[in-house]
Amino acid sequence: MPTHQSLTGASDDDLLQRMVATHAERFEAAFWAFFGAHVGPRLPPRPVMVDLGCGPGLLLRDLGERCPGAVLHGYDVTPAMIDYARQLTFETASATFALHDVVAKPLPRAAGTVHLASMSSVLHVFDEPLPTLAEIRRVLAPGGIFLLNDWVRQPLSTYLAWRRDVLKESGPDGLRRAFRLFPAQNKYTVDDWRWLLGEAGFEILAQTELRASHRIFVATPAR
Ligand SMILES: C[S@@+](CC[C@H](N)C(=O)[O-])C[C@H]1O[C@@H](n2cnc3c(N)ncnc32)[C@H](O)[C@@H]1O
Repeated sequence: MPTHQSLTGASDDDLLQRMVATHAERFEAAFWAFFGAHVGPRLPPRPVMVDLGCGPGLLLRDLGERCPGAVLHGYDVTPAMIDYARQLTFETASATFALHDVVAKPLPRAAGTVHLASMSSVLHVFDEPLPTLAEIRRVLAPGGIFLLNDWVRQPLSTYLAWRRDVLKESGPDGLRRAFRLFPAQNKYTVDDWRWLLGEAGFEILAQTELRASHRIFVATPAR
């Protein structure tokens, strides 16, 4: 399976630094307004939350600040990410981070015990997403929420312009990286994601596009 690192040629540390540097703009006011409208009200007090491919753990840190008493679990296959996450401070929530390959092994959580499962910019990388979606469905409690935030297909010209103008990538190296990443980050259309969620037994409760490159879905196991 290709990883973001193998596709970009970036080192683990480069990807870590990029995730940390862009976190605040990726999870800004509009994201939290959407979360507050569609996810927060569906969570019980002291919810159990898991983030698969949690990267540096900053989304879980933010979730812990918004949901005091939450029990947070972050899983990632990259040691540098887990090392970074383990140094974060959690004031009002308890958090554990584990080195865990979500594709290779079942989630280390009992069935029906998780209130919020999150995946952000991870699932598109997996060769086959359905086993991971089935595993998320297994661990979710009745009425539990799956928050999927991932890349959606854009026209090549739009994608190249975004990498040039927003990411400030230029020159032959930048263009090479953009063409290498295009098939992975533009793999699924919005309809493909909808279809995948339905195929995996999820009902979509809400969705939004806060950036042209990404779509956010709020889903729950279908009854
Ligand atoms: C683009 S980063 C996103 C990180 C984080 N979700 C965020 O939005 O800041 C993708 C993350 O998925 C992780 N990842 C990729 N394949 C994985 C796997 N099979 N199991 C667990 N984590 C994985 C990578 O190590 C990386 O941290």
